[in-house]
Amino acid sequence: MNVLDFQKMKDEGRKISMVTCYDYSSARAVAESTGDCILAGDSLAMTMHGHPTTLSATTAMMALHTAAVARGAPSKFIVADLPFLSYRKGLKDAMDSVQELMTAGAHAVKLEGVRGHAEIVRHIVDSGVPVMGHLGLTPQSVNLLGGMRVQARTDAAVDLLASQAGELEQAGCFSLVLECVPCEVARRVTELLTIPTIGIGAGPSVSGQVLVYQDMLGLNPGFRPKFLRTYANAFEVIQEALDTYDRDVKGGDFPSERESYS
Ligand code: KIV
Repeated sequence: MNVLDFQKMKDEGRKISMVTCYDYSSARAVAESTGDCILAGDSLAMTMHGHPTTLSATTAMMALHTAAVARGAPSKFIVADLPFLSYRKGLKDAMDSVQELMTAGAHAVKLEGVRGHAEIVRHIVDSGVPVMGHLGLTPQSVNLLGGMRVQARTDAAVDLLASQAGELEQAGCFSLVLECVPCEVARRVTELLTIPTIGIGAGPSVSGQVLVYQDMLGLNPGFRPKFLRTYANAFEVIQEALDTYDRDVKGGDFPSERESYS
């Protein structure tokens, strides 16, 4: 897949599937899957580093994880998140961050919102770097939003979301993530735009879906938002394997003769 395939898939009515990924070994599994593309998301601050929000992600962290993902999944299209405030401190800082992520192996960058940085989006695109937008629940603004909650619940908020989506398209974004918005709102924005929308908690009427790797594989027990479908119970599988190993070691069953050098 390359950046042009996003538009092609929307135009042909084919859904885009995206999953987050942050490290080499997970990337190898994603590389062998039929999924279309990878998001090296700033959610790695939470899933990989245990922070309570995405605000702790830095460009250095994003570049380190993006590079590991690129080594594990060299044939997949990788979008990397520009982290908190990295594109809000002027053009030079924004472009330094973009450069770090792209030279780490990303094929595109994603950033949240549009108010106050539409010009920066345009400049990044004009510099030859594809940009994915992100509206609705924008986790980097969690403190302003008063928590992680469904967005665009009033007519005014829906109109604002629709006009911001249009601004991002005008600024040159090749696609747009819509996070945690009512499905009718996501449908309206998807119909309004030419570019594809990628939903998370945005219902079925979008051009594609993205889920967080740990959440969809059941590696994040206790996290069960309404929108999430878990496709495996990997946490339990891993825990059981670890307990079996521990039992085998302590019971003298591991290593066996077959697993030892003579
Ligand atoms: O960082 C992330 O995982 C994201 C997705 C939730 C879209 O931005």
